[in-house]
Amino acid sequence: MFKIGVLQNHPRFLRVRENITDALGLMEKSRADLWVLPEFFATGYNFKTKEEVSSVAEPVSGGMTSGLLRSWAKKNDCAIIAGLPEKSGAKLYNSAVFVTGNSVSVYRKTHLFGAEKKFFSPGNTGFWTRSFKGVQVGVMICFDWFFPESARTLALKGAQVILHPSNLVLPWAPEGMKIRSLENRVFAATANRVGSERGLRYIGSSQITNPRGEVLSRLGKTRPGISVVSIDPSKALDKKINKANDLFKDRREKFYA
Ligand code: ACM
Repeated sequence: MFKIGVLQNHPRFLRVRENITDALGLMEKSRADLWVLPEFFATGYNFKTKEEVSSVAEPVSGGMTSGLLRSWAKKNDCAIIAGLPEKSGAKLYNSAVFVTGNSVSVYRKTHLFGAEKKFFSPGNTGFWTRSFKGVQVGVMICFDWFFPESARTLALKGAQVILHPSNLVLPWAPEGMKIRSLENRVFAATANRVGSERGLRYIGSSQITNPRGEVLSRLGKTRPGISVVSIDPSKALDKKINKANDLFKDRREKFYA
């Protein structure tokens, strides 16, 4: 079994160091093999200027946030996926770092949402998977969920668990992610934030779903918290729907172009 945890927080805008300390403090309350943290978990989300973004954006390699998460992951023998504004040369990306005790990988959000387009470059990493403790995981960020291609690409690349750091403001993702899980026969863990920030209200409802599209755990809409669930990731390797149908083998790719 593999323990997956989601963190639901309420970051204070631009107070990065304090927000990291608070997040790690919540995670200390339980053990997990892999923690999923929200999009922009330590900075807040509702930026109004590029200067604001720049003041908290960090490089992934050598950055404070990646470094602190990596040390914590090493100490706790786990992996962490967490969203942050990334500075890379002159560009800013809406990114998520996947850290283990001895590695850091970055995913850059493919489908930017709303005002993000004013500040961030569209992600150029594409969708990738990584193996951790024998489990294949893949990443997409928040609004990526609205494009079924994101989860499908990750599933076709072998992801057993989709990690989904989010700052959800629209109401549909918690129900929608049940379908993403079902239609790809994968687990999915969505970590969202709560509270409001400069007029944007975030919907919480962080959740973990299974390959049958069932909700294994869902947090509330307003309060910070954590939830850890034991899953059997091998269940996501079985793409059979019944004796006659296999989700991947039955695809008719020539009609999808
Ligand atoms: C979103 O993509 N943060 C809604």
